[in-house]
Amino acid sequence: MSSGMKRFQDAVLLAAAGLLVFQAVSAVRSSQIAGAPVFAASQQAPAAAQSGAGTQAQTQAETTQRAAGSQERSPGAEAYVRHCAICHGEQREGILPAFPPLLGIKRQMTDQQITDITHNGKGRMPGFPKLSNQEMTALLQFLSTTELTMPSASASAGGNGTSGNSSGLSDAGHALFQQNCAFCHGRDAMGGETGPDLTQSKLVLSDTNGDKISAVVREGRPEKKMPAFNFSSQELLSLVAFIRAREAAAAAQKGNRRGVDVADLQTGNVEQGKAYFNGAGTCSKCHSPTGDLAGVATRYQGLQLERRMLYPEGVKSKVTVTLPSGTSVTGTLAYLDEFTVGLRDSENAYRSWSIPNVKKYTVDAPVEAHADLFPKYTDADIHNLMAFLQTLR
Ligand code: HEC
Ligand code: HEC
Ligand code: HEC
Repeated sequence: MSSGMKRFQDAVLLAAAGLLVFQAVSAVRSSQIAGAPVFAASQQAPAAAQSGAGTQAQTQAETTQRAAGSQERSPGAEAYVRHCAICHGEQREGILPAFPPLLGIKRQMTDQQITDITHNGKGRMPGFPKLSNQEMTALLQFLSTTELTMPSASASAGGNGTSGNSSGLSDAGHALFQQNCAFCHGRDAMGGETGPDLTQSKLVLSDTNGDKISAVVREGRPEKKMPAFNFSSQELLSLVAFIRAREAAAAAQKGNRRGVDVADLQTGNVEQGKAYFNGAGTCSKCHSPTGDLAGVATRYQGLQLERRMLYPEGVKSKVTVTLPSGTSVTGTLAYLDEFTVGLRDSENAYRSWSIPNVKKYTVDAPVEAHADLFPKYTDADIHNLMAFLQTLR
């Protein structure tokens, strides 16, 4: 067997194991935190309805068994997967913007502080008062490690791991999608009996911040047989992340049966694109064809390049938090909701504040410029820009 084939099979096995653990954990989650506002906002809560107390014990046992079979995990890692991963992410990376990362948490908190939060809860995090001392000790030991040891579940959603750093979110979306959308839009979002292929949808492709997809899901299109759904904003975010991951996977697939015609992207005019870049598009305020964008057409091709142009992903925003004392702390925005602002400082330590307790905070998101530009492009502008960008090799 070729090593490529072997790697592929390993990936499939890992994906399957990851998915099972994920499903087991979500079943546990829904019965454990039924009162938590983050999820309670949803009236759909599909998994919750089916998971009684009896199946909880059973799924926990299954989780343990699967995990032991697929890979050696420490008791602490085991406890983490069982109780915490559903919110703080498979790899402790957090699920932003709602759940802070726990990777490296021991650099910012003492064992006592972590134990207190775990037992009593904090903000929208439910407490785990019944954790045994033994389990808590194992958990603390696991949290003091910083290697990424968990099997990645991102393959289960993206198929080829292109879902990027929001894989935890996308996994949650995967489960929701299978339960609520798959019978119309297909399990891979590529179209089904009655629903269109979402990976090729213009609406999906042009949705810079998830608003358009969320609006369709919230309002439905009753006259066209697309029902309305009542999801929490976190659930909507996860659905959007999943659809994006599917779209990225579809775009990356060679010989994709419904692949976007790259020729479609070749219809623009290079000179007009260049003029737009330096003029009305204001691109040259931030970019240079011989500087940061030199070779961009070698790094990305076709639809992928268009996606980078329309909404660059994984770009960090800066935030400055001013404390009542007048001191200010600047770092990379890591977490923001109406209650909490969190950042990673220059030492990469995660720090968060309750918003009423800070004087002010300012977010600097350069990439927002792309979102602002989006409604201003005409199709011709996009084609011309694409033609121009494709000369930057
Ligand atoms: C239902 C979701 C949920 C689960 C399950 C959960 N947490 Fe949390 N956790 C949160 C949220 C939300 C916060 C942010 C709370 C805040 O700051 O208001 C948080 C914050 C924390 C913090 C503080 C992080 C910081 O930087 O302020 C620690 C430590 C923590 N959780 C540990 C755990 C551990 C250990 C487990 C498993 C035993 C766990 N959590 C399970 C939702 C969850
Ligand atoms: C009963 C079948 C059905 C279900 C269930 C369903 N959809 Fe749809 N969906 C449709 C149909 C049909 C359309 C096309 C409507 C139209 O032509 O305007 C559509 C359109 C959409 C669109 C807009 C696509 C475009 O290009 O305009 C999005 C986004 C979408 N659905 C997402 C979802 C998500 C996410 C879910 C699950 C939460 C879901 N749908 C569940 C049938 C369904
Ligand atoms: C206000 C500043 C700003 C403006 C205006 C702007 N961009 Fe960007 N752009 C960014 C930032 C920030 C990034 C993310 C850079 C990164 O990923 O390192 C980015 C990323 C990109 C990328 C992806 C580059 C890569 O290597 O992944 C492309 C392509 C791009 N922009 C094209 C354009 C075009 C075309 C315009 C004009 C229509 C434009 N940008 C206008 C700030 C801007």
